Amino acid sequence: MKQGTGTALVTGANRGLGLETCRQLGRLGWRVWLTAPDSDEGQRACETLRSEGLDVHFEPLDVASLESLAALAGRLEQQGVRLSALINNAGIAMEGFNAHVAEYTVAVNFLGPLRVTERLLPLVEEHGRVVMVSSSLSELKDYPPAFQRRFDPPPPKEQLKALVRAFVEDVRAGVHEEKGWPTSAYRVSKLSLNALTRQLAEELKPRNLLVNAVCPGWVRTEMGGKHAARSVERGADILVWAATLPPRGPTGGFFRNRRPVPW
Ligand SMILES: NC(=O)c1ccc[n+]([C@@H]2O[C@H](COP(=O)([O-])OP(=O)(O)OC[C@H]3O[C@@H](n4cnc5c(N)ncnc54)[C@H](OP(=O)(O)O)[C@@H]3O)[C@@H](O)[C@H]2O)c1
Repeated sequence: MKQGTGTALVTGANRGLGLETCRQLGRLGWRVWLTAPDSDEGQRACETLRSEGLDVHFEPLDVASLESLAALAGRLEQQGVRLSALINNAGIAMEGFNAHVAEYTVAVNFLGPLRVTERLLPLVEEHGRVVMVSSSLSELKDYPPAFQRRFDPPPPKEQLKALVRAFVEDVRAGVHEEKGWPTSAYRVSKLSLNALTRQLAEELKPRNLLVNAVCPGWVRTEMGGKHAARSVERGADILVWAATLPPRGPTGGFFRNRRPVPW
């Protein structure tokens, strides 16, 4: 795709990597829908980018809310919006570990991208790209072979959802360790997101869509903290790269620093 002709929607974009991705795509001449769960914060972020001369529009979206997603999809459809790229960036890393943390983390980091992608797919153009913002903390090599087999090869979507539900229930029952799960909802959510990426990439090949997971590195945002190694500008590079891949670009991959990394 030529620069200056794209349209993108970015989730969780009122700050951090999402906001910077909107800015970088805007500077390439793209029209960008900046979405965020809080309307005031989202609108403020949008105004900042518009004051920089960028073609950015705000829409509220809480990726953990089906009502919020349905409302957004309805408004976009009404406007006839077509997307060249959908960037599932919204994510959380909660303090502590219990059933609530497990449930809400997978709701935002895994079910969110799944539902947003399924609901907005009809708006994504042929040769469009879906970007899943993942993390190197989800690399399978860090886990024993029996655990790896839960996610590799990636199970079909319904099975994957059941696996994630089982994780939450095992945490609730206090048996997650004996069932072989890590004590990190964030890791499980991103492992599941990676498996979903591989599944969706296969499923969407007939539509020539490119679906990839990316790791931004350790980035100085609210989530990454001020001691992180990377600037937000540098971190957003991989999101923008995956959103602007050429039509014959890779699909079903996991990338960091614009290079493939193992699942
Ligand atoms: N920073 C890092 O070092 C790092 C490393 C690897 C991967 N990542 C991934 O990169 C992505 C962006 O992270 P970041 O560092 O930019 O984090 P951040 O500064 O904490 O920003 C997270 C964004 O997600 C939004 N969000 C949270 N819950 C949401 C929901 N239910 N619906 C919609 N949006 C929601 C937040 O909105 P509010 O402001 O309203 O809360 C915020 O805009 C995440 O997926 C994260 O896992 C980050």
